[in-house]
Amino acid sequence: MASQSKLPIGILGATGMVGQRFIQLLQNHPWFEIAWLAASDRSSGKPYGEAAKWRLDAPLPESIARMTVSAATPESAPKIIFAALDAAIAREMEPDFANAGCAVVSNSSAYRMAPNVPLVIPEINADHLHLIEEQPSRAESGGYMVTNPNCSTIGLVMALKPLEVRFGIEKIFVTTMQAVSGAGYPGVPSMDILGNVIPYIGSEEEKMEAETLKLLGLLTGHSVAPLDAKISAHCNRVPVEDGHTESVSIQFGNKLGRAVTHEDILAAWAEFRPLAGQQLPTAPEQPVEWAPQNDRPQPRLDRNRGNGMAVTVGRLRPCPVLDWKFTVLSHNTIRGAAGAAILNAELLASLGKLEPLSAAVTRA
Ligand SMILES: NC(=O)c1ccc[n+]([C@@H]2O[C@H](COP(=O)([O-])OP(=O)(O)OC[C@H]3O[C@@H](n4cnc5c(N)ncnc54)[C@H](OP(=O)(O)O)[C@@H]3O)[C@@H](O)[C@H]2O)c1
Repeated sequence: MASQSKLPIGILGATGMVGQRFIQLLQNHPWFEIAWLAASDRSSGKPYGEAAKWRLDAPLPESIARMTVSAATPESAPKIIFAALDAAIAREMEPDFANAGCAVVSNSSAYRMAPNVPLVIPEINADHLHLIEEQPSRAESGGYMVTNPNCSTIGLVMALKPLEVRFGIEKIFVTTMQAVSGAGYPGVPSMDILGNVIPYIGSEEEKMEAETLKLLGLLTGHSVAPLDAKISAHCNRVPVEDGHTESVSIQFGNKLGRAVTHEDILAAWAEFRPLAGQQLPTAPEQPVEWAPQNDRPQPRLDRNRGNGMAVTVGRLRPCPVLDWKFTVLSHNTIRGAAGAAILNAELLASLGKLEPLSAAVTRA
């Protein structure tokens, strides 16, 4: 990005768990500047510091605390919007912003599986961003929607992609241990989760299964053909504050023409640096980090690797049912939410897709 002045951005759902992470991660961002914060009618009109129950251990910046929370309508909003709304609200609101000419970079599940909406992790499937051009709003106002995956999907796919590229994957079996911050604030009541495990997170298993195959799928013309693999997810809520841990077993295809070894897998993870040289400010240098200790990764010890943007893999060993099994950990509100959306926006900026969006319409 050659531009000297920062791009003004807005945050929809700024008072929530993910909205707060956006604020934290965008402090001193070299390309983006927070210009607008919006939330529900309960919050609009109030100073942010009063409207939001700040839950992060980094202090709330004074300048943000003083900003007035705006109504969640596109009229007064900047043209780049980070959205962190509940799915039901996002379903109604995000198209309004896209139709009004905004680039909507969304965390919500509402449009992730829509055929003309890209579901993107920059390291995995940057080419899927082409789907933006399939959205009617793009031609009419320049606006569009881009989504990042569910917080439990993102760690899994980061670990799988380097293996899929080299060896092919036919079967995936995953069991998650998901942090309470993944349910937003106030989330799961403390009386339900303390000293407990809840073996159900509404729609999570379905999302994880469908999103994984779309992310690993092939862009074919106007949509994405999902990866032709079988996947089964078991999702559990555990009493951990931040960081989703996942136990994964996989069966490989035959791309290599021989059995896949321990060394092959470690090399695939170590050499996976698809964004090297692109200088996206939020991209971790080593997106998939290997933890050699036999009791790692652990949420408290490993979730902040790569400033919360790297995923950590460990415990690689043969699986007597499928081929290999391992553990993966990722920070659910950074790599799994706000950081994922910021990295998507950085990729869009580097591709010229955040230039004044009216220019896109003029050119079309
Ligand atoms: N937490 C995670 O780890 C995670 C990870 C990936 C994706 N996500 C997704 O990100 C989204 C946000 O999650 P969260 O955990 O941040 O939820 P949250 O803590 O419940 O925050 C929800 C936000 O939406 C706002 N909101 C509610 N109703 C609204 C309305 N009618 N109009 C405008 N704003 C409204 C809230 O504002 P008020 O404060 O004014 O009510 C708040 O700012 C969800 O779709 C979630 O599935 C979350």
